[in-house]
Amino acid sequence: MVQKQKLYITGGRPLKGAVRVSGAKNAALAIMSAALLASEPVHLENCPNITDVKVLRDIIANLGVKVNCKNKNEIELLTPEVVKTTTPYKEVKKLRASNLLLGPLLARFGKAEIALPGGCNIGTRPMDLHIKGLQALGAKITLEHGFIKGTCGCLKGSKVYLDFPSVGATENIMMAAALAKGQTILGNVAKEPEIVDLANFLNGLGAKIRGAGTDVIKVEGVKQLGGGRYSVIPDRIEAGTFMVAAAATMGDLLIEHVISTHVEPLIAKLREANVEVVEEDDNIRVTARDTLKPIDIKTLPYPGFPTDMQSQIMAMLTAVKGTSVIVENVFENRLQVADEFKRMGAKIKVEGRTAIIQGVKKLQGAQVKASDLRAGAALIIAGLIAEGDTEICNAHYIDRGYENIESKLTSVGANIRSC
Ligand code: EPZ
Repeated sequence: MVQKQKLYITGGRPLKGAVRVSGAKNAALAIMSAALLASEPVHLENCPNITDVKVLRDIIANLGVKVNCKNKNEIELLTPEVVKTTTPYKEVKKLRASNLLLGPLLARFGKAEIALPGGCNIGTRPMDLHIKGLQALGAKITLEHGFIKGTCGCLKGSKVYLDFPSVGATENIMMAAALAKGQTILGNVAKEPEIVDLANFLNGLGAKIRGAGTDVIKVEGVKQLGGGRYSVIPDRIEAGTFMVAAAATMGDLLIEHVISTHVEPLIAKLREANVEVVEEDDNIRVTARDTLKPIDIKTLPYPGFPTDMQSQIMAMLTAVKGTSVIVENVFENRLQVADEFKRMGAKIKVEGRTAIIQGVKKLQGAQVKASDLRAGAALIIAGLIAEGDTEICNAHYIDRGYENIESKLTSVGANIRSC
């Protein structure tokens, strides 16, 4: 797979027209992991054609899962009764979300060895809540030589209360509980739409999961899960990225195939910034006619403002007259992109988890580098509004979570090309 290294953008053009959102990365990755629980074929539709999905596909194929790509957005998975249960560090390093294999491998095969993902650019990314929850279901888990090593007989339902509504921990424990004996009650869980999508997928295979999307999830364990066909929800973060790009460029953009309740926190903030947002069936129209207003953002677990949209909204606010304040409450190190914006002339003061942004008249195009997926997307937005040319290095990060972002942006007027 040829990885794009650089993106070039010539700024100054408003985004106008219509763009269609792909399937949700963070739902597809969890659902592909959950497919290992199924004893019959699982057919997934609307999977985004992105690097992270391809990497996870290869990881589960290496375990022995039969993977059949029907086309670029449809995958069929069949997990035999015996598979390998070890995921090496070189694979986990490429994709933290492979830690979601822990629950399914333990629940179905009684064994799992997953390399600890280690930290990444946005934070230490610990696994303590995953481990505590799986141990509550009866798994024996040790940390040895950089691996999480788990064994168990038949898992038993239990009461688990998460210290923090971790998305991954909620998913791992819910997947394991689906095949545990008896009832599991999960408290203080994550309520992201991707959790609901995972629960709906599992219930379609015969699981008995209730309460996904609320603070408490109840799971009645079943003996085994059958097969089924499932279509992944639209990606609310890709949709949000296009919404912010439209607002930042003073454009008029129709974002197609999006569930507007999933982007409600962003809609509220864009309206506060004097952007017109119209929800039409499964489309959202974003139009920036008048001067944007400065706003304050605090990232929080869903339904709060998503941390995955923080860098992108910061890009927009760098050129909004006045003072905007962003507080990043979810990850301890996710304001780094401010340093790249400052290379483009932005005026941002970062103190701990707070970024204070003094809007400037115009950003200037410059050479910048992406440190992670969402910082990369944010640098595209900055390039779209900057005067002159911007060159984004490490652009491969962007392909991890955005399907064909250049052609989508080009189709609505952006001057963007890769090399
Ligand atoms: C998921 O990561 C998403 N990834 C992230 O999206 C997203 O930013 C994050 O949820 C928050 O919404 C996928 O779904 C594949 P968490 P996850 O566990 O599950 C702490 C993107 O750009 N924590 O909710 O790893 C952790 O340190 C990516 O698409 C523990 O302390 O996030 C962090 O501060 C980036 N102990 C907070 O919880 C644990 O055992 C949120 O982490 C687990 C997490």
